[in-house]
Amino acid sequence: MQVIRVKNYNEMSEKAADMLAAQVKSKPDSVLGLATGGTPEGTYKAFVQKALQENFSLSELTTFNLDEYVGLSPQHPKSYHLYMKNHLFQPLALQPSQTNLPRGNAPYLEKEAERYERMIKEVGGIDLQLLGIGENGHIGFNEPGTSFTSRTHIEKLNPTTREANARYFENKEDVPEHAITMGISSIMDSGSILLLASGERKKEAVKRLLEDKNTREDFPASSLRNHPYVTMVADEEALAAVSKTDESSEKNEAKPL
Ligand code: F6R
Repeated sequence: MQVIRVKNYNEMSEKAADMLAAQVKSKPDSVLGLATGGTPEGTYKAFVQKALQENFSLSELTTFNLDEYVGLSPQHPKSYHLYMKNHLFQPLALQPSQTNLPRGNAPYLEKEAERYERMIKEVGGIDLQLLGIGENGHIGFNEPGTSFTSRTHIEKLNPTTREANARYFENKEDVPEHAITMGISSIMDSGSILLLASGERKKEAVKRLLEDKNTREDFPASSLRNHPYVTMVADEEALAAVSKTDESSEKNEAKPL
């Protein structure tokens, strides 16, 4: 895993946006895997600015998001559909046919999960997957204990995850109890992975990821140790508990574009 240490959230966002832009410029028909939450908001803002300023082509781009809350319609103000529309799809004028999220309000959620996997396969898989990390080490909404062989599925959210995400809802009881999420194995199939971590809240998860050499299902992010091309961009607060940050010498590193 290559670790890029940056000062703060803004630097992380700029760096990540540069990496997304480099991917899209070198392969205009890229398939990007995207995340939501607080972490990538700045990345999307910086990427939109870059794309508009530099005017590189986005017409061949395809995107697949990691997850959506079960029970929320795409128009729901707290849905990840709306988050993506507001932060990225609308500012970039991406066509609905270019963007994909699992439907949390599909009548048959298991069928929806299968459909989503099929769609990813049909476009030839994800080139670059953007990830955040949960305080408990979740990636996507794969909570501790999720099988490393999992594909897109329905996941019951941990109370700690619902608590962490309560800041986006009026009441914490409003945070849905389930999500539909790409599985660990779906994530691991991506060509390369860009993991972002910012802020004090993430320091224990980042420490465990970098310092605990065990690859175990009780810490989902540890699955990334088995991926050949992972880059983590993390800021000083997120790296605060790590004793050494020179992790670039580990077996996996940034995939040359
Ligand atoms: C979001 C997702 C989650 C978040 C994680 C961190 O699509 O898949 O794994 O990346 O919960 O969330 P924030 O960035 O809000 O701290």
